[in-house]
This record gives sequence, C-alpha cells and structure tokens, in this order.
Amino acid sequence: MLKNTVLCSLFAVGSAVSLPGAAEAASAATLEYKHNHWHFSGPFGSYDKEAVQRGFQVYKTVCASCHAVEQLSFRNLGEKGGPFYLDKCPAGVPESTNCSNPSENPVVKAIAAEYEITDGPDDSGDMFKRPGLPSDRIPGPYANDQQARAANGGALPPNLALIIKARHHGPDYVYSLLTGYEDAPISVQLGAGQYYNPYFAGDMSQLLKPEYRDEEGHPLDGVEVPPGGVLAMKAPLADGIVDYADENVPETVDQYAKDVVEFLTWASEPKMEQRKSLGVVTLGYLLVLTLILFFSYRAIWAKVEH
Ligand code: HEC
Repeated sequence: MLKNTVLCSLFAVGSAVSLPGAAEAASAATLEYKHNHWHFSGPFGSYDKEAVQRGFQVYKTVCASCHAVEQLSFRNLGEKGGPFYLDKCPAGVPESTNCSNPSENPVVKAIAAEYEITDGPDDSGDMFKRPGLPSDRIPGPYANDQQARAANGGALPPNLALIIKARHHGPDYVYSLLTGYEDAPISVQLGAGQYYNPYFAGDMSQLLKPEYRDEEGHPLDGVEVPPGGVLAMKAPLADGIVDYADENVPETVDQYAKDVVEFLTWASEPKMEQRKSLGVVTLGYLLVLTLILFFSYRAIWAKVEH
C-alpha cells in the first residue's frame, strides 16, 4: 500500500515535470512570438486607458461579428480601471448624475444603447427588443455554438474575454497571430477555408503537396516543414479599416493589434490594477514591519550585558 502510494506520487511528480516539456515540444513548430513592451506588464504595470478604449473600438468594429466577450457587461467598461471610467462628469451632464457609477456613466449608457437586446417575456408572453442598458451583458454575435460553427465553416470562434489567459504568453501570442498572416509557402496546399499563420499551433507536414512527400506520406529528405499551422479565421485586420478619433494614432494592422490586445487583456483581468496596488501596499507594510522588528530587536538586546 505504502509502496503504491510512493510509486503514485513519483509518477505524479514525473508527469508534472514532463508536461511543460511536452507543451514546448508541440509549440516549437511555430515561430517564436514577437515580443512587445506592454504597458500592463511587470509588477507596476497598468492599462493604457486610451489603448483599451481604441481596442474596444477595434473589437466592436471587427471582431464582434464573430467573437463574443462572454463575461463582460457594459457596466464593466465604466468601472474603476475600465476604459470608460469617469471620476467626474463631462460638461453638460446634469449635476445630480454620479458619473463614477457605471450605471449612470453617460458614455457607457450611450455604448449600451447602440445594441439591441432581446428581453422578455412581456405580459402577453412575447419576447421583445429594447436598447441595451449598462447592466446588460455585451451580447455576442450568435445565439449558440451551433449557429457560430455553421457560420464559420465548422470552426468555433472562441470567447475572447478569456483568450489572453487561455494561451501561453497570451498578449504576445495574440499580437503575433493577428499581425503574422502570410501567404502559404509553395510547398503546401491549403484546403477551402484554411488560412496559414506561422504563429498558430499546428502541423504543416500534413498539408505538404504530394511532390514533397515520400510514398508513406512523410516529408522528403531536405524538405523543410513550414512553421505554424492553418486556422479557420482569415486575417481579420487590414490597414485603415477602423477610424480612430485621435489623428496621431496610426490606423495600421500593427496598431490595431496592439490596441485590441490591450483591450482583451483588460477584459481578461479588469481588476489587475487593484491587485497590483494591493501587492505594493502589502510589500510596503511588510518592509515597515521588518524595520520595526529589527530596531526593536537592537533596542532590547542593547541592554543585555556581555
Ligand atoms: C469572420 C469571423 C471572424 C472575425 C471577424 C474574427 N475572428 Fe477570430 N476566429 C474566428 C474563427 C472561426 C476562429 C477559430 C479558428 C480555428 O480554430 O480554426 C477564430 C479564432 C481566433 C483566435 C484563437 C486562436 C487560437 O489560439 O485558438 C483569436 C485569438 C482570435 N480569433 C482573435 C480575433 C480578433 C482579435 C479579432 C478581431 C481583430 C478576430 N478574431 C476576428 C473567426 C473570426
């Protein structure tokens, strides 16, 4: 019995140790992600509020026709740390309004009102449409997964609210994926609805044209299998497709990708700034406590005769 337990735990340790290695081996087939300096990384990092606002615009204009951000409500956009949080009301808003409350925030109310929400049933049992309210969830493009697959050639566009957390090196990965689409290398043959991306995990050896393989289907000697894989999403971004209000910000694929990553990172952890500032306060508290302990130790022991 004891021996079994020991063996089991050894096995558990063994597999826990080998798993990350296995994951690396699989992802070694993609290009190394492009590395960006993100405003939100590091222990003191915070969100670039304007980038999150622009990122929401990119999401809403481009990605929202296929992807939901399931956990988000409109009111989250106006909470402290959110892209449209207001600590005081803009000019022209009645004084009785408390703009720091997301339900009263005029920007959030206007964004919500642009959406049509299905509500009900009403008194006669029918569902009805009404403009969105800050308390509503941001509606996704499809009623259910089946509908989403049917509209995307069988592939399911994932919920983007958690994608940054769900992928290794989420921000760099999503940025690289969005900016990394390339024409397929001449050695491969893509199927209908397949798009090549060197940052998407996959196995391109399966798609090599017959003249690049031996009789058993393996790549011929000297044939390099291209990195990456194919996915069912074609490059969603192109220069100039989203109009930014700020003329100093370039309207390029690169900028859109950075901004949408900033928004999606915020969406995956809206409370990051509070978490980090709590960490800093805790460290400061511990530092002060250490100093007090150190000096009281010196004070107490100073009186002891040698
Ligand atoms: C026309 C529909 C469509 C649009 C528009 C679209 N996507 Fe996608 N997206 C998909 C589909 C379908 C998949 C699933 C692909 C697959 O698994 O083969 C996907 C997958 C993804 C993935 C997951 C990749 C992975 O690792 O599994 C990310 C990230 C993503 N999309 C981000 C975006 C972003 C950001 C935008 C907006 C800039 C966007 N998409 C716009 C259809 C779309």
